[in-house]
Amino acid sequence: MTQTEPTIDAVQTLDAGTMAGAHVRTKFASFEESTAEDWAIIAPQIRHTQAMVADRVIDLMRDLKTDHGGFPVDRLEHSLQTATRAERAGRDDEYVLCALLHDIGDTLSPYDHPSIAAGILKPFVSEANHFMVANHGVFQGYYFWDYLGMDGNAREQFRDSPHFDYTEEFCHEYDQTAFDASYTSNPLEHYEPLIRQFLTPDPA
Ligand SMILES: [Fe+2]
Ligand SMILES: [Fe+2]
Repeated sequence: MTQTEPTIDAVQTLDAGTMAGAHVRTKFASFEESTAEDWAIIAPQIRHTQAMVADRVIDLMRDLKTDHGGFPVDRLEHSLQTATRAERAGRDDEYVLCALLHDIGDTLSPYDHPSIAAGILKPFVSEANHFMVANHGVFQGYYFWDYLGMDGNAREQFRDSPHFDYTEEFCHEYDQTAFDASYTSNPLEHYEPLIRQFLTPDPA
């Protein structure tokens, strides 16, 4: 029996009445035993889990301060600086949020950090912004991969993408420039309302 995980799109279509049983739990021992009634209980609860994400994200961002990875600024400062540069350039809120969170996976998944941010942001941002976050690592490689014996032009694999120039611009303007220890970035507290605004579901 094939099971499908509930998606946020599916949950967003559920009405407020389904949230009444948010703390009811199912009792099956395996998915094979589960029923439609079980999934009617489980599916709406993704909203409750999503409602906790903003706090978790803020905690993770705070943790980025504990690591610098050898870079001139710690990972939190790099993230804040990327977001601040984007904000001061007049970018919209969604773009600034992507700039802020783009490296949140640095300390969780060092070998594929863009995938972490891309997964967190995907339900809430445009295709262009998702592409930008998901692939910024390869585009950043343009600036240093040759020094590591890797292909600095690996981004060319995306040359035909409608989001190539958009992602190239993000890295050139805001990401690869955000290692300046003398730059004054906005604090994380400045961005907490933005994180909550995008990642917290509307009340059902
Ligand atoms: Fe990155
Ligand atoms: Fe970065």
